Amino acid sequence: MENMNWSDLSFGYMKTDYNVRCYYRNGKWGELEVSSSEIINIHMAATCLHYGQEAFEGLKAFKGKDGKVRIFRMKENGKRMQASSRGIKMAELPVETFEEAVLKVVRLNERFVPPYGSGASLYIRPLLIGLGAQVGVKPADEYMFLVFVTPVGPYFKTGFLPSKVCMMRGYDRAAPLGTGTIKVGGNYAASLAAGELAKEKGYAAVLYLDPKEKKYLDECGPANFFAIKGNNYITPKSESILPSITNKSLMQLAEDMGMTVERRPVPIEELATFEEAAECGTAAVITPLSQVDDLDEGKSYVFTTTNKPGPVCTKLYQKLTGIQCGDEPDPYGWVTIL
Ligand code: PLP
Ligand code: COI
Repeated sequence: MENMNWSDLSFGYMKTDYNVRCYYRNGKWGELEVSSSEIINIHMAATCLHYGQEAFEGLKAFKGKDGKVRIFRMKENGKRMQASSRGIKMAELPVETFEEAVLKVVRLNERFVPPYGSGASLYIRPLLIGLGAQVGVKPADEYMFLVFVTPVGPYFKTGFLPSKVCMMRGYDRAAPLGTGTIKVGGNYAASLAAGELAKEKGYAAVLYLDPKEKKYLDECGPANFFAIKGNNYITPKSESILPSITNKSLMQLAEDMGMTVERRPVPIEELATFEEAAECGTAAVITPLSQVDDLDEGKSYVFTTTNKPGPVCTKLYQKLTGIQCGDEPDPYGWVTIL
C-alpha cells in the first residue's frame, strides 16, 4: 500500500484481501469462514432479492499515532443488527459472533487501515441477508452474514466543511410505524429518488420530515440531525429515524462538556433559531450544515455563510475523532484495540 494516496480517498468501494462469512442453517449459526472472493453465489429465489430481507451495518476502524488499530463501538452495531433482524424476521446473530467477525476481518485486512492523520479510515460493512428460497411472502429459513471492509475518506465531498441540504414534502424514507428505526436496505431504496433529485439540485442530502404530520424534522438521508442553540444540543426524537451510534456518542460528549441535551420532536420552524446545525453518522462523522432549504415553501434557513464549521461542532468533532484514534482518553470504553 506504499503508493496509496490516503488523503485523496473518497467514500467508495476498494477491493481488500478478505471478507468473513457465517451461515445460518437448520436453526443454528455455523463457524466463521474466511473468503478472498468478492462474489456471493445465491439462490435466485432468495428472500433478500424479492422481499428485501436484508439488513446492514456501518462502523469504522482507525489507526492511532501509536500505530494501534481502534474499532469504534462495535457492540452497539451488533445490537442494532439484532434489532434490524427482529424487525424483518431474520435470524439474530449473537453479538459476540458479530464482534468476532469484525475483529477477524479487520485483522486480515490490516494493511488497508489508513494511516493516522490521513483523514481516512477503514469502513466496516456487515450485512445479513435471507438466503432461503421462497416465493410466498415469508421469512427465509437460511441466512448469510458477511463482513467486508474498504478504506474510505469523507462521505460528503465537503468533509468537515458546511454543506447544504433540502426538505421536500413529496418524499419519505420510512413510514410512521414502518422500518425507519432499523437499518434495512429497503429504507435506502426508498430514499434514492429523493436523494438523486436533491443532488441534481446541488444539495448534499435530503432532510426528511416526520412522515406522519410533516411538521417535525426527522433525519438526513444517511445521518441523524442535530443542532446547537445556546448551551443546548438538540436532536429529534422520532418513531421513524435510525438510532445513530454517533449521535448517541455526541449526546454523551455534549453532556460531558456541560451542555444540556434535548432529545425531543423538533418543529421545522425551530430551524430559524439554531446557531449551528449538522448531520452526524459513521460515514458522515459530523458534517456541519450551512443551510437548509425548504423547497416547497421557498424558504432558506441559513446557519453560516463563512464556509467554516461552528465552534461547538468543531469541539465535538475534535473530541469524537480524538477518542476514535486514541488521542483522547476513552472513559466509556467505546474503543476496542485490535
Ligand atoms: N441515519 C441513517 C438513516 C443512517 O443510515 C445512518 C448511518 O448509519 C445514521 C443515521 C447514523 O448512524 P450511526 O451513527 O450509527 O452510523
Ligand atoms: C454509515 O454511516 O455507516 C451508513 O451506513 C450511512 C450510509 C453509507 C448508508
